[in-house]
Parts: sequence; C-alpha cells; structure tokens
Amino acid sequence: MARATSVHVCSECGHETPRWAGQCPGCRAWNTLVEEARAAPGPAAGGRRGAGGGKALAPVALGDVKAEAVARLSTGVGELDRVLGGGVVPGSLVLIGGSPGIGKSTLTTMALANLVAAGRRTLYVSAEESAAQIKLRAERLGAAAHALRIPTIAETDLAAVLATLERERPEVCVVDSVQTLHSAALSGAPGSVGQVREVAGEIMRVAKQHGIAVLLVGHVTKEGALAGPRVLEHLVDCVLQFEGERERTYRTLRALKNRFGSTSEAGVFEMRSDGLVEVLDASARFVGEATRAPGSVVLAAMEGSRPLLVEVQALVSASDLEIPRRVVSGIDRNRLALVLAVLARHGGVGVGTSDVFVNVVGGVRVDEPGADLAVALAVASAARGVALTDAPDDPPLACFGELGLTGELRTVAHAERRVAEARKFGLATIVSPEAGTLRAALRALRVRERAREGQPAVAAL
Ligand SMILES: Nc1ncnc2c1ncn2[C@@H]1O[C@H](COP(=O)(O)OP(=O)(O)OP(=O)(O)O)[C@@H](O)[C@H]1O
Ligand SMILES: [Mg+2]
Repeated sequence: MARATSVHVCSECGHETPRWAGQCPGCRAWNTLVEEARAAPGPAAGGRRGAGGGKALAPVALGDVKAEAVARLSTGVGELDRVLGGGVVPGSLVLIGGSPGIGKSTLTTMALANLVAAGRRTLYVSAEESAAQIKLRAERLGAAAHALRIPTIAETDLAAVLATLERERPEVCVVDSVQTLHSAALSGAPGSVGQVREVAGEIMRVAKQHGIAVLLVGHVTKEGALAGPRVLEHLVDCVLQFEGERERTYRTLRALKNRFGSTSEAGVFEMRSDGLVEVLDASARFVGEATRAPGSVVLAAMEGSRPLLVEVQALVSASDLEIPRRVVSGIDRNRLALVLAVLARHGGVGVGTSDVFVNVVGGVRVDEPGADLAVALAVASAARGVALTDAPDDPPLACFGELGLTGELRTVAHAERRVAEARKFGLATIVSPEAGTLRAALRALRVRERAREGQPAVAAL
C-alpha cells in the first residue's frame, strides 16, 4: 500500500491518486500512473510575494553573469574523455547505460582509479555488489584501483547514499546503479519508474549543490532503451550508451546527449582480462581480418568524428521458410529491407525468397545511412557468389554512400576523411557516391563476372 509520503500521478493528464491503479481514473489511459514523492510544503514567510505566492526573481543581462572557466577532470581513459567532450565537467551528472555485463562497472572503476591516482577525491557507491566483489574487480584492473574509496556495504538506501555524499563531498562519484537504489519516500520497488526518477533527482540535487560530478550507471532493457523512465535522459547532462554484445570483443561508447560536447563522438574498447582497453587502431584490425570472400566488403564508416573501416558481410541462402529470414547485426533491420528493395528494383539483383543475413564484423554498430552501399554490395556479391576483389590477396574493396529510393547514390558527410582512411590502409578501390547510381557501382561485380567467363569487361568503375 502507498505511504502517505507519496502520490501516484498520471503522466498523461496529471491526475493524482493516492493508490496505484492500472487505469488512470482521470483520463482512462492505461499504465500511466507513476509514483512520486509528495513535496513538503515550503516555508510560507520571507521576501515580497506576488499573487501566486512566489518570490519574484531579479533578471540580469547574460553579459553580467560570471561563468568561471572550470577545468574538466580527465578520467585517464582517453576514449571516455573524448566521448564526454574532453573529460568530466565538475558538478555534472552523467548517465552511463548499457546491457548487463557489458563493462559499465569496469569502465567507471577504471575512470575513478585514474582520478584517484591524479589526486582527486572520489567515491564509488555500489548498490549491486559487495565491497569484496568490487575488490576482486579492482585486482583485475591493477594497482591504481586499490586506492578507491567505497562504502563497506552495498548500500541500496538512497538516504544513506545522499548522507555519504554530503559528508564525503567527493569531486567525482560513481553510483552503480540508479535502478538498485531505493527511496523510502516511495513504496514502489527499486527500478520502478517513480523510484528511478526520485533517486536520480535527489542525487542531482545534492551533486549540484556541492559541485560533485556523478557518473550514474543505468541498465538497459532488452530492446536497448535505458530502463526506467526516459525522463532520466532529460534530467542528466550527459547520456552515454555502452554497446556491443557481451560475447564480442569490441564495445562502443557513444554519447546520446551531451550538454558539454558533441554527441557524434564514439569510443571503441576491447574487454581484456586486465580491463577495458582502448582500441585506437580498429581500422587496421578490421581490414587485416577482412575475408575478401563473396559477400564481404569494407565499409568506410564514421564513428563520430573518426573514420573507421569495418567489414560488412552478407550471406544469401535458400530458405525453407514461407517468410524468408532477414537477419541483421550491427545495422538497422529496416535499412536492410530498403536496400534489398532498391537492389531488386534498380540494381537488377533480387534475393527473392532466400534468407538474407547481414553482419558488421566485430560487434560494431553502424547507425548511419552511409552504410547502405556496403550492405547493397555485400548482398549483391553474396547473391551472385562473386568476390568483390579480383585476387584473394588484393586489398578489399572499400565503399560508403547512402542509397536513394530511385537507385541513386547520395553523398554522406566526411567523404574525404573516409577516402583518406581507406587509402591509408591501402584500399585502392573505393566505391563512393561519385559513382552516381547503384547500377554503376554494381558494375564492379559485373566486370568480374564477365572476366571470369572470358568476356571483355564492359565498364570499369
Ligand atoms: N578475467 C576476465 N577476463 C576477461 N574479461 C572479463 C574477465 N572478468 C570479467 N570480464 C568481462 O567483464 C564483464 C563484466 O564487466 P562489468 O561487471 O563491468 O559489467 P557491468 O556492465 O557492470 O555488468 P552488470 O550489468 O552486471 O553490472 C563480463 O561480461 C566479462 O566480459
Ligand atoms: Mg556492474
């Protein structure tokens, strides 16, 4: 039963009710009631008050506002600093989301350990793991992590965490995780919408008051969204998403929102026994490992402001299902549907009722339209069983470009940097939107097919 300290508010119409119900009594919407702490009545006296009872504020010109340039704190993890826009901003609230076991605790522990080594006051609050478990991880991560200060018990009570923050006043604090803390003011279970909002709100209040930078760890749901309310994303200064599949080596850290920097940055990590290692030469590795077999092509992608060469592989095989499979990993499924339709209509390559699998190697996710051409070439190459390189030891074919619905290739951002990256790794043949249309780009395939059949090549790229 709800306690008197909380109230359930409909997120659609604002109707308030003391008890939770599946349907809002006000607007009849389902599952919209969210538990909130009942605000304590404010002090009635003080200052001259207007008709609404509020105290009038005195506006000032922005030019008169004193904004001291505050130095960012470097976490010592280069990729994390870059994604944050150059380090942690003092007093900011950063939400780090990621699926279970992806390495959120590892990343935050490493960052804090480096901050401690740099002489910063830090605190690691874990509501999930015991001090002994955290020590085990620290042992894996090396000597620097031993200097971390943590509460000796796994604390799930929000009030205790807030009191610790007030007393310790660290410069940087990690709270792992927002979904396991519990506010006694609300009756909902930890991780429920109301609880998560309350926990994050209260931590933010204390953190802003004392200038504590907080790294808030959050779990994501199966669908990949940050569990709990989306309101958290509005509340915090920065939302980082740690993605990749647990069984894969590479993990990417992206900024979904950043009040102090660009959201186009991404960092690539590899999980090793001694912790997360920044991958600075990802392109070299992916190109070196590219198979060059039918169905394989190298995509010159952009990871934020950095070019990255990744291998895109496709497999087209006869299906025994009524509705053939369209399985993707690393790209958007709807994008594959679009590419297949354009390939059939404007490229003369139909996959019919075959199963189609597309995979971006290494667990990398490329969420950009520039991947279209790579998917199209990989699928066409797989469907025809023709490799995109002439000889097995030739450097792989590189490509990038967006596919238009009329079969045209559309330019994408940072074309020169993509080309430069491909050249840097010795990929001489690059199919770019300059080819004009998908049909022109596909000539690469046809040239090789004809050459194999002993016919003269019709066109070069
Ligand atoms: N000795 C080891 N060698 C290599 N990798 C390891 C080792 N020990 C743990 N890992 C990796 O670390 C991951 C767990 O990292 P971590 O605890 O930081 O993840 P998390 O995102 O905090 O998980 P949770 O959601 O459970 O809190 C494991 O999935 C595993 O891949
Ligand atoms: Mg963890």
